[in-house]
Amino acid sequence: MFENISQNNVYKNLINGKWVEAKNKNTIEISSPVDGKFIGKLQALSKEEVDEVFEGSRKAQKAWADTPVNERSKILHKAADLLEENAKELAKILSREISKDLDSSLSEVVRTADFIRFTADEGMHLEGETIGSDSFPGFKKNKVSLVTRVPLGVVLAISPFNYPVNLSASKIAPALVGGNSVILKPPTNGAISALHLVEIFNAAGLPAGVLNTVTGRGSEIGDYLVTHKLVNFINFTGSTEVGKHISEISKMVPVLMELGGKDAAIILEDADLEEAADNIVSGAYGYSGQRCTAVKRVLVLDKVADKLTALVSERVKKLKVGKPEDGGKVTPLISNKSADYVQELINDALDKGAKLVVGNKREGNLVYPTLFDHVTTDMRIAWEEPFGPVLPIIRVRDIDEAIKIANESEYGLQASIFTKNMDDAFYIAGKLEVGTVQINNKPERGPDHFPFQGVKSSGIGSQGIRYSIEAMTRLKAIVLNIK
Ligand code: NAP
Ligand code: G3H
Repeated sequence: MFENISQNNVYKNLINGKWVEAKNKNTIEISSPVDGKFIGKLQALSKEEVDEVFEGSRKAQKAWADTPVNERSKILHKAADLLEENAKELAKILSREISKDLDSSLSEVVRTADFIRFTADEGMHLEGETIGSDSFPGFKKNKVSLVTRVPLGVVLAISPFNYPVNLSASKIAPALVGGNSVILKPPTNGAISALHLVEIFNAAGLPAGVLNTVTGRGSEIGDYLVTHKLVNFINFTGSTEVGKHISEISKMVPVLMELGGKDAAIILEDADLEEAADNIVSGAYGYSGQRCTAVKRVLVLDKVADKLTALVSERVKKLKVGKPEDGGKVTPLISNKSADYVQELINDALDKGAKLVVGNKREGNLVYPTLFDHVTTDMRIAWEEPFGPVLPIIRVRDIDEAIKIANESEYGLQASIFTKNMDDAFYIAGKLEVGTVQINNKPERGPDHFPFQGVKSSGIGSQGIRYSIEAMTRLKAIVLNIK
């Protein structure tokens, strides 16, 4: 199934329907974060090749937009079936490439097949409306506005390392069903998995040029892609730093951005503490904390703080640490640089007097799950996104102090509230400056047809199947004037 995408572990790009190597022969060597072993080489495309990709995409988009949506949808259904058939193989590749535990790797792929199928169906229900003129003062029934949705054109999709399959497909599928062509710039760590996904779309029968890829380091080719004159929409997921940079240079091109987070879990006195602890631990340490929606701080009412800390600590000690192939759940981080950053935050918390409950052990890029209690707001870990397995517990006096600290963050992705009192839950939920509030559950993106959005430095716009299709299409009105 995947024989065309590489030769001797040298991976190619899909450009105008063909898997090709870069003309300049520039490549990037990729090794596994699990053990540093070589896994393949990627092409680093030149600016001239990027121009070719954009021109091909633009041309292909016109015919794709004219293709009936039921045919576009059929191709996506086929892609979902192929992805499911190849899920185990792709999960193994993903697990080695980004050091994700095997169960989570498989669930990422299966969830993606479900996502594509749901999108194929949702695209069939993209309907417009007719609006009569007589509801506006001074007008009679002499005009009708026929409002439909039309594609934007060429969508540039840029995905991050932590979900290279799911967060590539969550841009590609809604864009395609809406009649756009797509250029995918996958993350350098994660590109091999993403290229497999792209071959699945290709094999499902997409016409040449409708889906293309550009590999290469974002720091080298990113600005050129983002500011290209033929780009019509940028759908980006990644760090706030890169997201802000892109939104500064992209000027009038519309963007959808999913960025960093510092999701708080707020624990009230009447919470089911066992349930809260289960959610906190799976939320904070799943994929070693490398999830945008990870629980990245706990704000707990003083009265139950000792008990909660003990329950969380008990669970953290049981987490299996090690390589994915040995059943590790907390696995080596994506790079040494990431582990250095996490260590910096740990050291700062220790220096400023936080109480280390578990962890602060490291072997290269493997950081053991670390839990701090009595974290205070002068510590970096109270505010920065570690993207690693370290969790601060901040004790608060009352609900209003929890809300205040939660909202002082520059981020606003999600937050959780654990309580049995729905009046309190709704009071807090109403005050939190985030895209989504979870009551009695950890922050999480799914189910993937729910709207998913960050506010403040966590993003711009809403994803989620229908919302993504709407974001990558626009309204077009034709006004019928009746004599
Ligand atoms: P990143 O370093 O910002 O990279 C994201 C993507 O942007 C990669 O494909 C990267 O390519 C590319 N890139 C880098 N510089 C670029 C530029 N100047 N122009 C265009 N593209 C450029 O983020 P990451 O480390 O992969 O992902 C972790 C971050 O993503 C965390 O902050 C996390 O919270 C956030 N995230 C947010 C969500 C959400 O839904 N809100 C979901 C997942 C992740 P290279 O890989 O080649 O550098
Ligand atoms: O990393 C960001 C992902 O969008 C989070 O998805 O909540 O399902 O892990 P998740």
